[in-house]
Parts: sequence; C-alpha cells; structure tokens
Amino acid sequence: MTRVAILISGGGSNMLRLVQDMQAGGYAKPVLVASNDPQAAGLARAAALGVAVAAVDHRGFGRDRAAFEAELLRPLLAANPDVLCLAGFMRVLTPDSVRRFAGRMLNIHPSLLPKYPGLHTHQRALDAGDTAAGCTVHQVTAELDAGPVLGQAVVPVLPDDTADTLSARVLVQEHRLYPLVLRRFVAGQREPVFLDCNQ
Ligand code: GAR
Repeated sequence: MTRVAILISGGGSNMLRLVQDMQAGGYAKPVLVASNDPQAAGLARAAALGVAVAAVDHRGFGRDRAAFEAELLRPLLAANPDVLCLAGFMRVLTPDSVRRFAGRMLNIHPSLLPKYPGLHTHQRALDAGDTAAGCTVHQVTAELDAGPVLGQAVVPVLPDDTADTLSARVLVQEHRLYPLVLRRFVAGQREPVFLDCNQ
C-alpha cells in the first residue's frame, strides 16, 4: 500500500483530513506526521489517530537549513514514504530535499496559483480587489509554489470579507480538495481537478 508522510507546522487541520481520508478509504497508509515545531498542535492530533509523529525544532539550527533538514530527513526516510504531503508546513525546503522527493511531494497553498505564491495570500487577494479566491494543491519543485497544479478550489470573495473570513472560507475547501487530490495522485492521476464552490 502507498505510504504517505505529512509535514506540518501548526494545527494540522489539513493533515487531519488527509489521515482520516486515508484511514477511511484504505487507499494509502499514513506512516508519519512530522513537524519543525515540537509544540505544533497537529502532532498530538495525529498521535491520537494512531499515526507515528516526529519533531525537529528548526530554531536549534539558526540559518543552517541543510543541517535542519538532515535531522528532519532522519525519521522521514526511516518511515520510507512513497508520497510526502506538505500540509501547512511553513519552512521552505532546500533544492536537495525537494530533489529527494521529486515527483512525489505535494503541497497545499491558500491561493489560486500562480497568483500569490508565498505568504499573506488572502490579504493580497483582497488588496487586489479579486472577486474569486481559493486554494491549490500542486507538486513541489525547487521554485516556491510553482510546481504543476494537481487541483484547485475556487470560492467567491464577498464584499465585507476580511483576511480572516476569506481564509476560513478557503480552508473549508482545502479540506475537500487535498484528500481528493491525494486519492487521485495515489491512483496515478496527474491531470488537475477543479472544484467550483459558489457558496
Ligand atoms: C492552510 O491554510 C494551508 O493552505 C497554509 O497554511 C494553513 C495550514 O492550516 N499553507 C501555507 O500557507 C503554505 N505556504 P492547517 O495547519 O490547519 O492545515
């Protein structure tokens, strides 16, 4: 069975949806949830679902990303994943680590890429006066948030939206999109799927 590891930095709501979908659907096995923050709330949530967890605090490594990733890779490689999912993992991986998982690393990003790679996506969509926003699941390549798109979900931007209300509306769709894309990816499907969520 396809082995899936997940990297998180925070609450891990997307990670939870992925784990629950794999456990319910039986199409893949969640073998590890790892974080750069030992306090990440998602770690306890993953453990409660019976998934192995690991944490490597990036703050112990200063600016030495390669040294941090060498430590992070230890439990990750020991778990021997076929697919690596980034789910709210807020560290940019070095090209070396990206290469190691080339073609089998996925990320979810809270914008309709190629719009708004990087941070503060919802505020940037509001500042631009966009009438639609959303999220993207894509393959990870060495260039930030620029790999091939595997799926997108679109939501309307409402007139009184703030970054928080828009973020909450997008997150609901992230939770639908990521498990759907992972299922398709595990089944070998690479053409993008688009969800229109006119709510
Ligand atoms: C999600 O909105 C995800 O798209 C975003 O962080 C949040 C994590 O929430 N990811 C990025 O911004 C990556 N650049 P979660 O921990 O509840 O899944």
